Amino acid sequence: MKILFVCLGNICRSPMAEGLMKSKIENRSLQNLAVDSAGTSNYHIGESPDKRMTETAAMHGIYLSSRARQFKQKDFDEFDCIIPMDQSNKNNILKLARNDKDKNKVILMREYDEKSKGSDVPDPYFGGQKGFEEVYEILDRSTEKLLNSILEYGS
Ligand code: 4NP
Repeated sequence: MKILFVCLGNICRSPMAEGLMKSKIENRSLQNLAVDSAGTSNYHIGESPDKRMTETAAMHGIYLSSRARQFKQKDFDEFDCIIPMDQSNKNNILKLARNDKDKNKVILMREYDEKSKGSDVPDPYFGGQKGFEEVYEILDRSTEKLLNSILEYGS
């Protein structure tokens, strides 16, 4: 099972989701689950995660080590689950889908958030530090539910 988290820049939300999911997988000693992240834009290709996101993650014991890359159509072949952070990113991913099989792999991150099902993970890039903590809290809950759902139902 391979999971891909996707946001706009691949330097804030999706690296946080990737780091959280990897940490949860490691803590539970799970195997056969691979995690990656990507951005729908080409704005930050090759960059490390935003310092504000890295610092927020580190305060919670999560270490972010990804490098930004752009989402590509071939990701539909490589991943079983493609998890966009908001509706705009979801729409841009779906534009690249070739068939229903591709489309069915795409599920919004907050479909797994019982506190606000189906809403967007807010983009923290242009806001203050508080926004990064909020993103952490949302993604901690949502990735926990996603992982439990994969373990229970296989998707
Ligand atoms: P992300 O945040 O999509 O969570 O990585 C953003 C990063 C960069 C920009 C926007 C959002 N930007 O406009 O450069």
